[in-house]
Amino acid sequence: MFIQTSTYGGVLSLPSFPVSTLHRHLAIPVTCKIRIFEDMAKTIRYARMLQDAGAQMLTVHGRTRDQKGPLTGLADWKYVRVLRQQLSIPIFSNGNIMSVHDVDRCIAETGVNGVMTAEGNLHNPALFEGVNPTAWSMAHEYLDLVEQYPAPISYIRGHLFKLFHHLMHLKSNAALREKLAGSHSVAEFRTVVTQLEQKYLPYHEGTLLWTGEGDNDATNNDDDTTTTSTGTENEQQPSSPHRAKLDQNLHLPPWLCQPHIRAPPEVHRQKLQEAHRLANDPTREKRQFFDAHGNEISRKRMKKMRRVQRRPKNKNRAQQRALNGGGGGAGVQAACSPDNDESDDDGEEEDEDEGQQQQQQQQENNIVRLNISLAEANGRRRRFDELCKNDAPNCTNPMGMKCEHRLCRTCCKSKCYRENRDCAGHKIRIKSRREKAIALTRAEQEAQRTIDEEQEQQKCADVEMLVPAEEPTIERS
Ligand SMILES: Cc1cc2nc3c(=O)[nH]c(=O)nc-3n(C[C@H](O)[C@H](O)[C@H](O)COP(=O)(O)O)c2cc1C
Ligand SMILES: [Zn+2]
Ligand SMILES: [Zn+2]
Repeated sequence: MFIQTSTYGGVLSLPSFPVSTLHRHLAIPVTCKIRIFEDMAKTIRYARMLQDAGAQMLTVHGRTRDQKGPLTGLADWKYVRVLRQQLSIPIFSNGNIMSVHDVDRCIAETGVNGVMTAEGNLHNPALFEGVNPTAWSMAHEYLDLVEQYPAPISYIRGHLFKLFHHLMHLKSNAALREKLAGSHSVAEFRTVVTQLEQKYLPYHEGTLLWTGEGDNDATNNDDDTTTTSTGTENEQQPSSPHRAKLDQNLHLPPWLCQPHIRAPPEVHRQKLQEAHRLANDPTREKRQFFDAHGNEISRKRMKKMRRVQRRPKNKNRAQQRALNGGGGGAGVQAACSPDNDESDDDGEEEDEDEGQQQQQQQQENNIVRLNISLAEANGRRRRFDELCKNDAPNCTNPMGMKCEHRLCRTCCKSKCYRENRDCAGHKIRIKSRREKAIALTRAEQEAQRTIDEEQEQQKCADVEMLVPAEEPTIERS
């Protein structure tokens, strides 16, 4: 069972309720997983509360609630070590596990009883074996499993993007990246995997010399520039002095499964500041996207249009689903599915050549037009191109189109946490959930009171049974 206690953020006493309830009513042990608070004392109190409520194991993810997405950064094992010392139940550590050596290092540094990982295994499913297999061998094995145990197409795509993360960031693989993003059946996925295998197997086996991609092909520069994807193959060019940078600072060749090391949060913050400065710079020359009406739309919006465009029509999708046997058990599988199509968070999707672009533009315009008429029909304001209205600190994310608070998802979530609110547009139900939790606590307390009262009454009744109703009268002679 999975209880997301973080929903009650800030209300320190509530998570003990579901834990103690489960602990009392279940025959199996209840285990918990938490993130840390910046405040060490608060983290210890929180963990102790869970232990006292009956948690029989605790996993500690050494990051705070805000350390997400581009702000993920490193997990702090110091908190894990302190919790290990302060609590008596088994403690597992979570975060910073990129290789099997990290597992040993973590256990040595924190004294934990075990280690849990997630993202590292998505990039290298063989992480615990201490090996770095080829991405295609893992992908073929994964697709074999999918044939046996069908999964939704978007999950499969997400897993393959994780496995081929490093190859997909090479400019010379732009076409294959597009192909992977546009695949909608196991057979299509298999074709892309086989093509990647055929392309990189000679390098892996040493019959061709891998020297990294040339300067023009390095895509991991994380900037917003886009170049036409010519698919130039530079692998056989002589080695460049910038080789390490060009290969995304990888220790191993990009076709081997290995961790993806995110840029530190400071880099992201700097980028945000720069983006904001550019957005406010009246002299800047910016790349603009327009819809059919000549309204400027954001790059993100345009990319979304493209993704939608790549999807087959509904009828075909239903057929695909039937063919792939997908659709079932989404709720369960959601927990183990990586982000769909990585192009979402990377912001590095390449542009198509001009002819294709024009054709695409026309199709996108049609979608934009459809969206506009839908929005108009609903009486909603169009705000594709507006930024999040959070100005403390200034946020450069696009505003959620349906957000009640005119914010991006991240800012909306923080606001809802802080101010105890919901947002139907973002499907954030913090206020409702808190109310539900409080109502449940009350109901539980009420039920407990009734039980106590009944037990009390029963005790009184038992005592009355033992004590005679009246003193027997003693007859005097
Ligand atoms: C695909 C995926 C699914 C996840 N699902 C859950 C989940 O259902 N419950 C949970 O508490 N954490 C979940 N997490 C978070 C991880 O358990 C973990 O706390 C986090 O990814 C940090 O560990 P890592 O550095 O090893 O990835 C998920 C993470 C990933 C990448
Ligand atoms: Zn919102
Ligand atoms: Zn925002």
